[in-house]
Amino acid sequence: MTVDASAHLAAELIRDEPYYRPVGDEIDLFAAAYAGRLPVMLKGPTGCGKTRFVEHMAWRLKRPLVTVAAHEDLTAADLAGRFLLAPEGTVWHDGPLTAAVRLGAICYLDEIVEARQDTTVVIHPLTDARRALPLDKKGELVPAHPDFQLTISYNPGYQSAVKDLKESTKQRFVAIEFDYPEPAIEAEIVMREAGVAAALAGGLVDVGLRSRNLRGDGLAEGASTRMLIHAAKLVRGGAPLDAALRSAILLPITDEPDLREALAAAIAASLPEAARL
Ligand SMILES: Nc1ncnc2c1ncn2[C@@H]1O[C@H](COP(=O)(O)OP(=O)(O)OP(=O)(O)O)[C@@H](O)[C@H]1O
Ligand SMILES: [Mg+2]
Repeated sequence: MTVDASAHLAAELIRDEPYYRPVGDEIDLFAAAYAGRLPVMLKGPTGCGKTRFVEHMAWRLKRPLVTVAAHEDLTAADLAGRFLLAPEGTVWHDGPLTAAVRLGAICYLDEIVEARQDTTVVIHPLTDARRALPLDKKGELVPAHPDFQLTISYNPGYQSAVKDLKESTKQRFVAIEFDYPEPAIEAEIVMREAGVAAALAGGLVDVGLRSRNLRGDGLAEGASTRMLIHAAKLVRGGAPLDAALRSAILLPITDEPDLREALAAAIAASLPEAARL
């Protein structure tokens, strides 16, 4: 059997603890799910810490992490593997999912709902009592390594009826809910991630809260923790506060003039120093 080694390089053993500030009981829940090798679904809006959490858990559980960003052209072969032409003939290349299954890694499928439903079903035999991955093209049934575990992310806000997981896929997972943390914790995260003072972090978190209140009034999402960190990093890098807020929050979030105005007003209310927006 020829198995390409390069796919295994996609697996990363995380040596240094990724900073993750727990918000609730998510660490214990994930650890319990992992102990039972249950597949986990992380539900929550963009930029709220899902990816950072998986990195932290892989480090904590001392398992390598294989991350795959799903997109609408992702095929089952992209996940499982394919034969490729080589000078010596056709050679099988494991996809990242197969590599994780063989190695006993945690496989994180990010934004799984982006993938087509016929791609998603390849995970079915791995996420029930079979715990095996059939490679039909290769005629091999790969039993999952005892340490293998599958985690997916899912943003409930973005789903439409056409783009949603099959019921039979959803029901294979235990879900852990994520959201933007309460203000004191979010400020702590912004301070730590961007290396800024408490006053600025607190003001930015207030911007985040006000922007999230505009959700529904045309704004699909408020400013995420990620965006607040970006703004803080710009300031830390020497940008004036108003320019930082404009570049990190106002411009990326909407092109709609009315919404921009509403958001600019929200920002000025939280951080009066940035009123020149
Ligand atoms: N609880 C937390 N502890 C530490 N850092 C956090 C936490 N929550 C958010 N962050 C910070 O916010 C950034 C964005 O988080 P992350 O990339 O994990 O978001 P996500 O939920 O995976 O978003 P997306 O759905 O867009 O992929 C991280 O890089 C990290 O700096
Ligand atoms: Mg992510």
